[in-house]
Amino acid sequence: MELKVLTKDEIYEEISEDIVKLINEKHNAVLGLATGSSPVGVYQKLIEKYADKKVSFKDVITYNLDEYVGLTKDNDQSYYYFMMNQLFKHVDINLANVHVPDGIETEKCIETYESNMVKDGGIDYQILGIGSNGHIAFNEPGTPLDSHIHIVTLKDSTRKDNARFFASIDEVPTHAITMGLKSILAGKRIVLIATGKNKALAIKRLFEEGETTDLPASVLKEHPNVTIYCDEDAASLLEKVGA
Ligand code: F6R
Repeated sequence: MELKVLTKDEIYEEISEDIVKLINEKHNAVLGLATGSSPVGVYQKLIEKYADKKVSFKDVITYNLDEYVGLTKDNDQSYYYFMMNQLFKHVDINLANVHVPDGIETEKCIETYESNMVKDGGIDYQILGIGSNGHIAFNEPGTPLDSHIHIVTLKDSTRKDNARFFASIDEVPTHAITMGLKSILAGKRIVLIATGKNKALAIKRLFEEGETTDLPASVLKEHPNVTIYCDEDAASLLEKVGA
C-alpha cells in the first residue's frame, strides 16, 4: 500500500485528474464509487472538469459500493439519491450505466450485481472511504475477508457516525447491502481517502497491524495497486508522515 499525505484539495485534484485521464484513455471505464463525505471533493472536481470540457462521462459505467436496506432510490437519505445530487445529475452520464445496490430488491441484487460488474469488465478504478472502526464499504469488523455482496447489520458506531446525515440516530437504517471485501479487491486500482482526526486511529492501525477481520480495510494489504490518501489529521497518529 502506498501512502500519500496531502492537503484535501491536493487529494481531490490528484484523484480526479487520474479519473479524467483514465476516461480519456478508455471512454467506457468502469468506476467503483463511494458515498459519504470523503469522496465529495473528488466528485466536485470531476463536475468542474466536465464543465470545462476536459472529460465526458457518456460511456462511463459506475458501480457504487453500498446502499441502506429499506430506502427507495427517491428517498433523500438513499445512496442512489446522494450520487444523483453529488455527481450524476451534473454530468453527461447515461443513467442506464449507473449501478447502486438495490436496498429494496436485495435478494435479486445479491444474485446479479457482481456478475453484471464482471460482464462490464470489472472495476478499473475504485474509490473508498474508511469508517472510524476501519470498515470499507459497509463491511464492519468481523466480516470474512473473502466476502462478496451481502446484507449487513450496521454497528452502533457506524450508525452514530452517519447520524449527521439524518434527523436523529433513530432514523439511521439498521441494515445495509454492501459489496464484500473480496469483491472490492477485484478492482484493478484502489484509492482510499481518509481525512480528519476521527480517521487517525483507523489509519494508524491500517499501517501498523497485519491483516485482520477486526480491521476490514486491512484486506487492502493483499492488493498490488492501492494508494491511501490522508490529510495531515488522518495521518497524525502515524510514526512517520510522508513515507
Ligand atoms: C460509503 C462507504 C463507507 C464510507 C465510510 C466513511 O459508500 O462505503 O464505507 O466510505 O463510512 O464515511 P465518510 O466518508 O462519510 O467519513
